[in-house]
Amino acid sequence: MSSPLILGIESTCDETGVALVRGETLLSEVTATSMEEHARYGGIIPEIASRAHLESFLPTLDSALEQAGVNLEEVDAVAVSAGPGLVGSLTVGISAAKALAASLGVPVYGVNHVVGHLAVAGLVGESLPQRFVGLVVSGGHSSLLSVRDLAADVEELGGTLDDAAGEAFDKVGRLLGLPYPGGPHVDRLAREGDVTAVRFPRGLAAAKDRQRHRYDFSFSGLKTAVARHVESAQGSGEEVRRADVCAAFSEAVNDSLTAKAVQACLDYDCDTLVVGGGFSANSRLRQLAARRCEAAGLDLRIPPPRYCTDNGAQIAALGAAAVRSGLPPSPMGFGPDSSMPL
Ligand code: KG4
Ligand code: ZN
Repeated sequence: MSSPLILGIESTCDETGVALVRGETLLSEVTATSMEEHARYGGIIPEIASRAHLESFLPTLDSALEQAGVNLEEVDAVAVSAGPGLVGSLTVGISAAKALAASLGVPVYGVNHVVGHLAVAGLVGESLPQRFVGLVVSGGHSSLLSVRDLAADVEELGGTLDDAAGEAFDKVGRLLGLPYPGGPHVDRLAREGDVTAVRFPRGLAAAKDRQRHRYDFSFSGLKTAVARHVESAQGSGEEVRRADVCAAFSEAVNDSLTAKAVQACLDYDCDTLVVGGGFSANSRLRQLAARRCEAAGLDLRIPPPRYCTDNGAQIAALGAAAVRSGLPPSPMGFGPDSSMPL
C-alpha cells in the first residue's frame, strides 16, 4: 500500500504555502508571498498579510494539486501551521485546512511551524535520523532544539533572549540604509568586507552567562554596538565602511549560532545538526556551520535556501511524520496559537 497523501498548508506570516507529500516524497510545493506589499512599510503589516493569504490560498492550492498531478479527493490528511505566527494569518490557513478536512472527511493536524523548518530537510535529502540537534533561525525565531522524535518529542534547549538572527540583520540593514528586509543585503555586503576591520562583542560571552545561557543567544547588544559605531563615524565626519561593518556583525552572529549548535550536538551526543529557517540562506552561516561540523565529525543538513524560507513542504513533512508516528489528529476546535510552545 502506498503512503498516505498529505496536504500541507503554511500561513504563519507573509508566505502562503501549499505542498503535497507522499511518505517522504515531495510531489509539489507552491508559495505565494505578500512581501512586496510590506516592503514599503519597512515591516510586516498583519492585516495586509491576512488579506493576502485569503486571496492567494485557492490559486496556490490549485497550482500545487496540478503540479503534483493529483485530485483534491485523493488527499488522506491535511496538516496546517497552528503557530507560532501572526494570529490573523494563521486563522486563514487553519480555517481553510479545517474546511478542506471536513469536506473530504479526512483528519487535520495542527503542527508547529518551527519544527517544520527542520522536518523539511528529510524531504529534500536522505531521511533524517530519529535523533538530532536542530537550529532554527529566521526573522521570527532563533532556537536550538533537541529532537528525539520530530512529531512527538522535541525539546527547546535555548533560544534568543531578545532579537532573532534575521531580525537583528534586518535592523542593522535599516541602520545602514539598506532596503527591507535587510538580511540578504547585509549578507551580500559582508562578503565584500573585512571581518577584522571592526570588532563587535559576542552576546552572552561573560563567564556567568556562558554557564547560565549555554544554548541561548542575544543579539541586541551587538545591534546597539553597530548603531554606536555608525553614529560615532557619522559624528566625526568619517565614511561608514558598510561592508566592513556587515562583515564584522555577520561574523559575531554566526560565530555564536554555529559554536552553540555544535556544542549542543556534542553535549547531547548527536551526530547530526539540522539547520532551517529563512536566515539559513546566510552564506557565512553555511560556511561556518560546514567548517565546524566537519571539524567535529558531525553530519550537517541544511536544505537549499528555497526550502529554508516558510513553505508548505515543511508543514506537509511534519504532518506526514505525525501520521507515521500514529499520533492522533487535532481536535476540530483547535485555533491559532501565536506563541505556540514546542
Ligand atoms: O523564515 P523566513 O522567511 O520568515 C520568518 O521570519 O519566519 O525568514 C526571513 C528572515 C528575514 O529576517 C530575512 O532578512 C532573513 O531571514 N534572511 C537573511 C538572508 N536571507 C533571508 N538574513 C541574512 N542573510 C541572508 N542571506
Ligand atoms: Zn518560519
